[in-house]
Amino acid sequence: MKKYILITGGAGFIGSHLVRLLVNKYPDYDIFNMDVLTYAGNLENLKDVEAKENYTFIKCDICDLDKVRNVFKEYQIDHVIHLAAESHVDRSIKDPFSFAQTNVMGTLSLLQAAKESWSNNYADKLFYHVSTDEVYGSLGEEGFFTEETAYDPHSPYSASKASSDHFVRAFHDTYGLPTVISNCSNNYGSYQFPEKLIPLFINNIVNNKPLPVYGKGENVRDWLFVNDHARAIDVIFHKGKLGETYNIGGFNEWKNIDLIKVMIKTVDRLLGREEGTSEKLITYVKDRAGHDLRYAIDSTKLKEELGWEPSLQFEEGIEKTVAWYLENQEWLNNVTSGDYQAYYQKMYTKYTMYQEVKKEIESFGFSVVSHDFERPWGGFLVIDEIQAQEFSNKFFEGIDVNTLKIGGKLSPKILIVKPNARLSWQYHNRRAEIWQVYIGSAGIIRSDSDVENEMKIYNKGE
Ligand code: NAD
Ligand code: TYD
Repeated sequence: MKKYILITGGAGFIGSHLVRLLVNKYPDYDIFNMDVLTYAGNLENLKDVEAKENYTFIKCDICDLDKVRNVFKEYQIDHVIHLAAESHVDRSIKDPFSFAQTNVMGTLSLLQAAKESWSNNYADKLFYHVSTDEVYGSLGEEGFFTEETAYDPHSPYSASKASSDHFVRAFHDTYGLPTVISNCSNNYGSYQFPEKLIPLFINNIVNNKPLPVYGKGENVRDWLFVNDHARAIDVIFHKGKLGETYNIGGFNEWKNIDLIKVMIKTVDRLLGREEGTSEKLITYVKDRAGHDLRYAIDSTKLKEELGWEPSLQFEEGIEKTVAWYLENQEWLNNVTSGDYQAYYQKMYTKYTMYQEVKKEIESFGFSVVSHDFERPWGGFLVIDEIQAQEFSNKFFEGIDVNTLKIGGKLSPKILIVKPNARLSWQYHNRRAEIWQVYIGSAGIIRSDSDVENEMKIYNKGE
């Protein structure tokens, strides 16, 4: 059944894996990725899906209630998977206010918008809130967090996540909002911003930089491969019971220092260094304030009730992860230097234009059957061949589409569309603002020099 799913924080680490999974696995669902693109949000993480028909990016702050309301209305959102958050404990210690703002107030504004938008009919609606095991506090040497463990957050990050969880439950209990919550252990994998332990240390080992181990390195974390978290969200989204909580984890506890030694060995080996040579980079530093000793998740409920299990052993996951960061040095350099902002500027401008042109064309009843908005000069849309003459009648004084010529050759039936949705034959001089509408087949443009030629010919012709 068709669903209109709003994923918040989809340009971040876990969100981008979830968006990729759902966009590819469910072509019938429309996936809307709402993200304000903080330092942690990066559209480059989604390069491989951004041109898919069932994917739309919406730049929006979840705290902006009016804008969020409009998104619910405009896109007829019926399901939410909420991941947007400030997520780094060390940052929360420095700036607790921005954590309260995004994680608490942002969640509240989404809940409110969902409630208003769905209040007449909660059938086939869902507000899925993605949370963390850190809300449960810290364990001693023994035991696990279960869904019944009392909340006991210690860091401003976990306090803000705990608060957001409470608001979600309050909306369920008070207004009957159909909600579900999952609390997951530490994730690792590709596309994680290199301020968190694993990508930060891989990057530092590669660059022979010190590895700042907090305290004695004896804190324990329970690590789950990010793709397995995304798979768990998929399962809970489809099969989870309303009002319930599910813990997600892979029974995979590691003392920080032991994990760090595994990373060192793996990076050394993959770089052809003698295994363990980078251990000299280990530098014990002042402990993190309020540092939780141990997290360990019991995910039996998820396994027994919904049948989810992790797909990967840790050894395989960490090997894949290290290899990914080694192969994607450019991504690492871009996110650390802020160059991805430039990528965003470039892509987002085009993307907005594409959306505008598409909307305008569709508002006249024409259907856009495919598109490519990644061309350096702009992009193109393709409309249904059957509608060709009708399209020409509407916008081009009924020119017979079969007689349209490009470069002396008969065939391609290209109509050029300016951005800002003013359809015309005019060739707009600012290169990045050109949009073309193709009718039927888009196979005619093979290279950008083809386009240059086409543009020159148009210019002369005018
Ligand atoms: P992340 O920091 O990598 O990504 C967060 C995303 O949210 C970014 O794309 C950012 O731009 C976006 N965002 C931040 N503020 C926003 C706002 N006001 N409006 C719209 N978008 C905003 O985080 P992550 O590690 O992918 O975590 C995602 C979610 O999963 C969070 O809710 C986090 O608490 C939870 N979680 C994370 C882990 C983990 O190990 N990383 C484990 C369990 C749960
Ligand atoms: P992190 O990746 O920040 O996740 P979280 O604090 O949410 O668990 O940290 C994982 C563990 O690694 C945690 O015990 C803190 C420790 N750590 C360091 O020792 N040094 C570092 O530079 C970082 C970022 C983390």
